[in-house]
Amino acid sequence: MKQVQFEKPGRPGDVAICVDVPDPVISSADQVLVRVDAFPINPADLLLFRGVYPRNPANGDALGNEATGIVEAVGANVRSVAPGDRVISLRTNNWRERLSLKETELIKLAPEIGMETAAILKVNPATALLMLKSFTDLSPGDWVIQNAANSAVGRAVIEIAGRQGIRTLNVVRRENLADDLRALGGDHVIVESDDLAERVAAITGQSGLKLGIDAVGGAATGRLAQALGPAAMLVVYGAMSGQAMQADAGQFVFKDLRLRGFWLTKFLAEAPRQTVISLYETLSDLALDGAFKPEISGRFNVSNIQAALNHAEETMGRGKTLVTFD
Ligand SMILES: NC(=O)c1ccc[n+]([C@@H]2O[C@H](COP(=O)([O-])OP(=O)(O)OC[C@H]3O[C@@H](n4cnc5c(N)ncnc54)[C@H](OP(=O)(O)O)[C@@H]3O)[C@@H](O)[C@H]2O)c1
Repeated sequence: MKQVQFEKPGRPGDVAICVDVPDPVISSADQVLVRVDAFPINPADLLLFRGVYPRNPANGDALGNEATGIVEAVGANVRSVAPGDRVISLRTNNWRERLSLKETELIKLAPEIGMETAAILKVNPATALLMLKSFTDLSPGDWVIQNAANSAVGRAVIEIAGRQGIRTLNVVRRENLADDLRALGGDHVIVESDDLAERVAAITGQSGLKLGIDAVGGAATGRLAQALGPAAMLVVYGAMSGQAMQADAGQFVFKDLRLRGFWLTKFLAEAPRQTVISLYETLSDLALDGAFKPEISGRFNVSNIQAALNHAEETMGRGKTLVTFD
């Protein structure tokens, strides 16, 4: 079977290779063999190649955050899935043609969700949903502000919040994204600028924003802090600018802001199985309702993984690169 790997950190398109390795086999009664048909390339995958994440050869460098596929065979004790079911893998190290997973390391999806939506469901929609519901109580009519609103996570935030009646202020870098994000359900789209807080206040009036969601870092974090209302929560989940967060301490002291980080990998490692199942049931229902249709910017066969990685870096923020094994 085919498998993606790399020997030393570097530019992803230079260091990635697609190799042939022996197929895994079912070695215990609780195992499931999955034939992977697709995976997306996420920013975190690119960072792993570049050595930003610690290397851990014991788990194949954990290469590949996501993958979807079809169950091929199950061990004697497996009850929740059967051959032919579409599943997603919950573990890392997924960029392989066949995965041998424990029953608890996968989630079964309705076949109507389809391969492409299944491929992107694990990471970005889950991150969006958990950030909206885990840190502060939001009711219909409440406001949330987020930057990198055009990212896959940002789009999922818009779709989930919109269905719950939560209003979103979506900060982007390019004006021409506005129609697209409004069509998705975004209430307001604002181009990033130093007077963000004044422009937000002109929209929301006295109803203070309760939640800010930051994927950019640098000065953008401080601009979100300035726009938030008293005792609001600022959740950080990425640093696309590559800059350390900069914020005015006064915003935190005088407004009593709270600052939290979020990492889906940690959540999935620690959450009880039933919580994880409920999370993906909710996301599946949303997907069946039409949410999370992936914007695919390019499709590549795994044998062309270098070109796929180059494409993913060049088009980041303009849709996902999807890699298939067909
Ligand atoms: N903590 C977690 O558990 C978790 C989970 C999922 C994702 N993430 C992180 O969330 C971020 C978004 O992931 P994604 O898959 O949704 O990304 P994506 O769809 O590839 O989109 C990338 C986004 O980043 C923006 N961006 C890129 N460089 C930027 C810069 N220098 N300043 C401001 N914005 C910049 C892009 O804006 P333009 O459209 O203007 O180019 C685009 O909106 C990544 O940092 C990822 O690692 C974290």
